[in-house]
Amino acid sequence: MGWNSWNSFANIVNSQIVQRQAQALAANGMKEAGYEYVVIDEGWWLGERDAAGNIVVNPKQWPAIKPGQRDGDMANIADFIHRLGLKAGIYTDAGRDGCSMYPDSGPKYMHTGSEGHYEQDFEQFLKWGFDYVKVDWCGGAKEKESGAVQYAQVARAIQRAEKVTGRRLFLSICEWGSQNPWFWAPGVGGIESTIWRTGGDIIPPVVESLPDPEHAKRVITLKNVLDSFEAGMHPEAQHTGYYNDLDMMVMGMRGMTDAMDRIHMGLWVMASAPLMVGSDLTRLSPETLSLLKNGEALAIHNDPFGLQPIKVAEPTPGVQVWAKPMAVAGRRAVAILNRTDSSAQVKIDWGKLGLVGAPRSLRDVWDGRDFTATDVALSIPAHDLLLLSVDGEDKKPAEYPANQSVIAGIQATSGPTFARLEYANTSGQVVVVRVKSTSGLSTGLALHPTAGLDTGAAGFLLPRGTADLSFESQTATVRKLAVFSW
Ligand code: GLA
Repeated sequence: MGWNSWNSFANIVNSQIVQRQAQALAANGMKEAGYEYVVIDEGWWLGERDAAGNIVVNPKQWPAIKPGQRDGDMANIADFIHRLGLKAGIYTDAGRDGCSMYPDSGPKYMHTGSEGHYEQDFEQFLKWGFDYVKVDWCGGAKEKESGAVQYAQVARAIQRAEKVTGRRLFLSICEWGSQNPWFWAPGVGGIESTIWRTGGDIIPPVVESLPDPEHAKRVITLKNVLDSFEAGMHPEAQHTGYYNDLDMMVMGMRGMTDAMDRIHMGLWVMASAPLMVGSDLTRLSPETLSLLKNGEALAIHNDPFGLQPIKVAEPTPGVQVWAKPMAVAGRRAVAILNRTDSSAQVKIDWGKLGLVGAPRSLRDVWDGRDFTATDVALSIPAHDLLLLSVDGEDKKPAEYPANQSVIAGIQATSGPTFARLEYANTSGQVVVVRVKSTSGLSTGLALHPTAGLDTGAAGFLLPRGTADLSFESQTATVRKLAVFSW
């Protein structure tokens, strides 16, 4: 969760802009709500290196912020962000050239990528104080590289840079879904926690201060938001620690209404997608800000299982019921999305959410109101989204024998099928379990360490078919595997 400079500032980003945005994030309650990363996207560097291959920074764009600092040192802004209690992010490309060869405005710049300098650059980012790096794919695509191979090199270089500096650099993969990163990005190069972009840009940036006709005419439509959501649905690749990235958010930006904001926030929260807000934080309306800070919505987003939702019904075309399995037994988050031009009345068939009978409680998340009856038809205005929190009783799951290193022949009949794994991991480290399915899916499931012999739980979604789970390490013990057919 955090802010990214690209959507609203594109390549005009500079120290002053980032300082103002970081201050807004710290002052407007977003920081308390959990938004913590301030990420500087493309435009911070124009591809120049010195004779030793070190990145040369423009001293005017990134001047000293306090006495004793040197102009042209990116440590200045990273320090500013840290002093606000936030984390700092920076940006590069996996190829030799970066996206600046296709500029959003102004001249084009070549060589803004890190290829050939991976370790040197990641070490530099860490030494400057950055905590997060977004690695884009313009140069990689131009050179027709393999994303899986290239990002594994990136991940290994990051690990080496982390060893040298003793600091952690969080990797954000930005390959736009062109080579199905959901198959290879989870756990790429042994990195235990990552996010990967699943589609192209949600919008071309809308820079309010750029008077050129191109920027002036850019307006966000509902289609931009819905297309990014749809491109990002790869539920089987996502679970605690591994997230599909639906792109930076456009909450409150030009063209977005309050109802569109609800759809946007509701879908990103349901998908447990990174909430990297790309808006100008100094200009958010109270309505947009309160949606971004809605504690019950953020609790759905931050559910420990971090799963994507399953579309369980579409009673009329364009009126969709999405349900997200949550870590608490019998709990679901439900979004009713009305993509149509008319209002809709929807009665939920609770059995399709894997529940026995009607739920015990049903709550409207946007206004924090409980429904007294659970069998009512819910009404959703045209182009809007109702977000619900539901507690009920799970149908009885199928259970598989525990205490083995392979669990084979798991039947996923309702695809995607929700499964809940209870385990102990006494290694003190994350253990990655391989999941293979007859559907062709092969992914990793991260099992966080448990305290001693305590039981930990992880959720995952299996594609329809038969799946095998295999444990690469013997340090994790399966206590129970329950598979829920909805
Ligand atoms: C690509 C990425 C965007 C942004 C721009 C910068 O298009 O997908 O998120 O980083 O590059 O040019």
